[in-house]
Amino acid sequence: MQAVLLTAFEGPDALAVREVPEPEAREGQVLIDVEWAGVTFPDLLQTRGEYQTRPELPFIPGWEVSGTVRTGTAGFRAGDRVAALPVTGGFARTVAVDVPMVFPLPDNVDTRRGAALPLNYLTAHFALLHRGALRPGEVVLVHGAAGGVGSAACQVAAAYGARVIAVVSTEEKAELARSVGAHEIVAADGFLNEVRALTDGGGVDIVIDPVGGDRFLDSLRTLRHGVGRLLVLGFAGGSIPTLRVNRLLLTNTSVIGVGVAEYWRHDPEAAHSQWHELLPLLKSGRLAPPVSSVFPLEQAAAALRHVGERQALGRTLLKVRA
Ligand SMILES: NC(=O)c1ccc[n+]([C@@H]2O[C@H](COP(=O)([O-])OP(=O)(O)OC[C@H]3O[C@@H](n4cnc5c(N)ncnc54)[C@H](OP(=O)(O)O)[C@@H]3O)[C@@H](O)[C@H]2O)c1
Repeated sequence: MQAVLLTAFEGPDALAVREVPEPEAREGQVLIDVEWAGVTFPDLLQTRGEYQTRPELPFIPGWEVSGTVRTGTAGFRAGDRVAALPVTGGFARTVAVDVPMVFPLPDNVDTRRGAALPLNYLTAHFALLHRGALRPGEVVLVHGAAGGVGSAACQVAAAYGARVIAVVSTEEKAELARSVGAHEIVAADGFLNEVRALTDGGGVDIVIDPVGGDRFLDSLRTLRHGVGRLLVLGFAGGSIPTLRVNRLLLTNTSVIGVGVAEYWRHDPEAAHSQWHELLPLLKSGRLAPPVSSVFPLEQAAAALRHVGERQALGRTLLKVRA
């Protein structure tokens, strides 16, 4: 089968399209004929060897896919339309995925959008509901709101009754953030004063931060005293911030880590429970990932560069089969 292999930890340039043997589904796995593969920031980090885990080279990257089940197993029938999280192996015509990481798609969700669902929507759900304990009516500030995690967080937060303030760097990204439910938009440059003005100086209840870097300190300053929670999701901006913890004591605020892969590693059934919680919102169309760039499988390197150069608006996908 055709697949995209990473041959060195040197970023997207080290990806090569190759013919490789088809995978076989082991006990407890589902074989999926891939139609679409999501292109994610963790894929980019993995090509650079900067992700927490470094698979042995060469390997096929690809965190998330959608497609159809090849042969029936574990409650899935041949031909079922599914989304899945192989974590590696998704940039290929066929992939074998552990059963707990395969999710049936509702009839109204096509496989194109389905490929953009599992990683970011389950991450947003874990962050906001589990780690952040979001309550209806709270104010949520979302950094990188036109990115993968950010756009999902805007939709999930709004669907659970939050007022969403999106932080973005361009007018195009502002439009995207509005389309996924952000109620107000602030520019990344100077967001602190804008957020203070929008909240009458009171601040926000939750910050979703997949960007890190030099925004962190001002994010802490936006937190409402006594209740504010800053959720640390990632470092798309490049650097990992440090924190003088007296700031938390002086404001009765919290900084909370969010690692969804670690959550699933400890509790492999958790992802399915999350998916079931989100199903009514998927069926109603309330949660629908914004897909704005599609590349053919052979151009996986270009797709990853597009994400790495901060150009992505919403989600980027690889079209694997017609
Ligand atoms: N904790 C978890 O469980 C978990 C799960 C999934 C992903 N993540 C992490 O979350 C982070 C974001 O992932 P994503 O899929 O949302 O990425 P993405 O789609 O590329 O979006 C990242 C956003 O970050 C902002 N940004 C600021 N500085 C940037 C820079 N130098 N380069 C690129 N983007 C920059 C951009 O928004 P503006 O241009 O508007 O500033 C961009 O839209 C990554 O670090 C990823 O590994 C964590």
